[in-house]
Amino acid sequence: MKILVIGSGGREHALAWKLAQSPRVKKVFVAPGNGGTAAMPHLENLAIPEIERLADFCVAEDVHLTVVGPEAPLAAGVVDHFRERRLRIFGPTRAAAQLESSKAYAKDFMQRHGIPTAQHRTFTDPAQAHAYITERNCALVVKADGLAAGKGVVVAATPDEAHAAVDDMLERNTYGVQHGEDGARVVIEDFLEGEEASFIVLVDGTRVLPLASSQDHKRLRDGDQGPNTGGMGAYSPAPVVSPEVHARVMREIIMPTVQGMAADGNPYTGFLYAGLMIDRQGHARTLEFNCRLGDPETQPILMRLKSDLVHVLDAAIDGKLDKLELQWDRRTALAVVMAAPGYPETPRLGGAIEGLPAPAEDLQVFHAGTRLDGNVLRTAGGRVLAVTALGDSLRMAQQRAYAGLRQIRFEGMQFRQDIGWRALKR
Ligand code: AMP
Ligand code: GLY
Repeated sequence: MKILVIGSGGREHALAWKLAQSPRVKKVFVAPGNGGTAAMPHLENLAIPEIERLADFCVAEDVHLTVVGPEAPLAAGVVDHFRERRLRIFGPTRAAAQLESSKAYAKDFMQRHGIPTAQHRTFTDPAQAHAYITERNCALVVKADGLAAGKGVVVAATPDEAHAAVDDMLERNTYGVQHGEDGARVVIEDFLEGEEASFIVLVDGTRVLPLASSQDHKRLRDGDQGPNTGGMGAYSPAPVVSPEVHARVMREIIMPTVQGMAADGNPYTGFLYAGLMIDRQGHARTLEFNCRLGDPETQPILMRLKSDLVHVLDAAIDGKLDKLELQWDRRTALAVVMAAPGYPETPRLGGAIEGLPAPAEDLQVFHAGTRLDGNVLRTAGGRVLAVTALGDSLRMAQQRAYAGLRQIRFEGMQFRQDIGWRALKR
């Protein structure tokens, strides 16, 4: 059978790599794909940007199912469109994808359904937002409402920083956020203390199948310093998600979300990613929802997944997730992202990439922002590669990933030296 993956990042390379391992799969198309998916056996890149034409392609090629990587096509309604054409696709509808595409929608939803999250208010009027900051007088987080590709969130230690963030977002749109019809909005919420984790599940409308836990490293520099990025590295499993925390997150966050969406007449299908803040007592609160897999969390998660992913996605599309149990490699997987110089603000692209280590059972280099220029592989995006390794312990996975990474060279490459530090410190 043939499969289509929509997207071009490391997450999509990992999805395509994993799907191609299914004995039933002959070909995985990746639209548009990257330099990694261009060069792998059984994968083929497709230069078809329009949803309509992708649907035509799936009909013509008899594609068995489509899986969507990034949020933008989901928020644009790719799932609604494919379903209208009776094509099998895994992801949330445009309406359900609002859990990610609108922070105001997500916060309102959580409040209505009693899902633990930080106290918040939403504003369109700068004067009211400034008054609220003065009144709260505590550490706050200011978030632009709308898709901002991981930017547009300012953690403000002082009221002055929060005031400045409101001006940037409501008056100047400094982060270039895509606004809804009613213009710029900001969500201002209390700062939560604790350790973050990524909790990702598959949802078939009513039933839920959790993936292995993971943890991302969102800041650019070691020790979680510097600007926020799309993610500089990740590992799975995340020890902060103990069995007790896992049970609690399922009970207090995931199930009420899935039931709440169904009760609102907006049933959720697809991957659902809850970004959690877990405090010392093991209470988890939701920082955000994403309506997709995480990047780079997917890379270590899929390195550990032993089950046939085609079988899993089929069950999810057919509403049969209760019939499945996932098999996991007991080892730890860890991914280190290599980014272009100037990332995240202004990545400088086009440099030649050399020294990629050969893939092995315990080492894969997933491509993100790369392209093939003849026989030369070049950087073509802010995040370039995710060097992903398996090891019997987190330390061993880390050593293996960094040993692979040290063979790779491109001009101005940036990477963190400390991926996994929180788990090692425990
Ligand atoms: P978001 O896009 O909402 O997940 O925010 C991006 C990052 O900002 C998160 O991964 C956290 O590191 C941080 N963050 C967001 N909201 C909060 C909060 N209420 N308290 C503490 N940190 C936060
Ligand atoms: N790694 C964070 C995300 O995918 O949103």
